[in-house]
Amino acid sequence: MNVTDPNCLRLISNQNNLLNAIPEMVLLVKNSQSIEYMNPSAIAFFGDLSSSNNNRNDAEKKLLGILLKLVEKTKASKSFGKTIATSYENTHIEYTLAPFEGYKGEMLQWFFIRDITDNKNQNEELSLFHNSIETILAHKINDLKESERMRHSLANELNTLKEHLNEQPSEGKMIGSSKALTELRDMVFQVAKSDATILITGESGTGKELVANLLRERSNRNDKPFLKINCNTITDSLLESDLFGHERGAFTGADRKKKGKFEVVDGGTIFLDEIGDISPRMQAALLRVLQDGEIIRVGGNEPIRIDVRVIAATNKDLTSMVQDGSFRLDLFYRLNIINIAIPPLRERNEDIIDLTTHFIRKYRQAFKKDISFLPQSILDRLLRHSWPGNVRELDNVIQRAVLMAKNDTITENELFFDMQPNQPKPESQKDYLENIEGKSLKFMMAKVEKEIIEVSLKNNRGKVAITVDQLNIGKTAFYDKMKRYKISPKDHAY
Ligand SMILES: Nc1ncnc2c1ncn2[C@@H]1O[C@H](COP(=O)(O)OP(=O)(O)OP(=O)(O)O)[C@@H](O)[C@H]1O
Ligand SMILES: [Mg+2]
Repeated sequence: MNVTDPNCLRLISNQNNLLNAIPEMVLLVKNSQSIEYMNPSAIAFFGDLSSSNNNRNDAEKKLLGILLKLVEKTKASKSFGKTIATSYENTHIEYTLAPFEGYKGEMLQWFFIRDITDNKNQNEELSLFHNSIETILAHKINDLKESERMRHSLANELNTLKEHLNEQPSEGKMIGSSKALTELRDMVFQVAKSDATILITGESGTGKELVANLLRERSNRNDKPFLKINCNTITDSLLESDLFGHERGAFTGADRKKKGKFEVVDGGTIFLDEIGDISPRMQAALLRVLQDGEIIRVGGNEPIRIDVRVIAATNKDLTSMVQDGSFRLDLFYRLNIINIAIPPLRERNEDIIDLTTHFIRKYRQAFKKDISFLPQSILDRLLRHSWPGNVRELDNVIQRAVLMAKNDTITENELFFDMQPNQPKPESQKDYLENIEGKSLKFMMAKVEKEIIEVSLKNNRGKVAITVDQLNIGKTAFYDKMKRYKISPKDHAY
């Protein structure tokens, strides 16, 4: 071949340009003994053999050693012309080997080598990333499964709670877990079986009638008649003939003999409610029943034996009535053989919680409301309240709250305590009608109006919005009136 031939020179130059331009490393090895060519990429990677003049042989030998290893690897895997990945020092490379025969019969080998370290690292990073994504995902999935499990168990718990809530405790049960109530309940169950007369005392609304019912229910007379008499609603003479009966002609209109309740109830139980309100005459008659187990019909003189168990109740202080002479001491002793004294609700805070739950349950079912939550702030207010009306008041408060609640929560807006029974009456009721002389209607009306506003604000704990609603008056007009009467809602907030 004539290498001075311009065509030949052009081909050589083109080939050189091509080899210079390609990013892969290209090396040409002759007879596995010398490196004939390295393109710029190969020089950049393996070093310039021609620059290390003195050591060229060493450097060439070293590189040849490396390349020959690649040849062996290729031979072993019969991968000539194929791309093989391997590592060299700290780098990862990919190479292709293309052997060919020179025109003088020498064996030549083209090496095409690519540094794939970055790629490999990237891939590793990527797979690490994938791995970590997988780990994260696995964690997340576990978390999800866990929360699903928790959701399930919560749902189960909620259902059991709902079932519990729906289990309406049978009416007439004495709710409460305070020490006082537990002892009281024990005592009720203990004395119920005896035939002893029982006096139940306690403030209004503490549950005296409830206890009387329980006593009867648990007694041996529970299949016998049970008669309740409210001593303060019947006039003296009516009460007497009602209870003890009368003989024919005993009084005008008594045209025939009539059995009294004590006789009718014979063998059963009689509950004398408000016993503190009976007259001295009735006290004497009752004493006979309790002392001798006999009655005498009104207008008669034959004692009739009866077997009645008496349960009495009062919210009055019978001992001080005995002291001031309005209640017979001997009757008091007869009644007070067993005394069940129910403590006021304010003295047994645990019961407030139990009863609140009980009444919420009761009324949410009655009013078809889904009340399932009572904020702690409301419970705190219930616990702080003094409950002058005792359990009956709590019952009323919860009934109103559940009825008025807008969604599933009771808020301050629905909490109204009962007017206190012993609260002094407003002056308007006490004095106005007595002192009207010389006063104009306008003056009197203003006084009444002022008091109404003050009382309403007090009942609503100074909340103007609720008061305005209740009094059905415009807000502006209400503020005008408060200004006129020098009323500040803050004075009524507590
Ligand atoms: N421990 C309790 N558990 C459940 N409900 C109760 C309890 N105590 C009282 N109540 C309820 O409170 C209300 C008032 O009770 P009860 O009529 O027995 O009171 P009282 O002491 O007889 O009141 P009064 O002196 O005004 O007649 C009733 O609805 C009753 O069922
Ligand atoms: Mg009662």
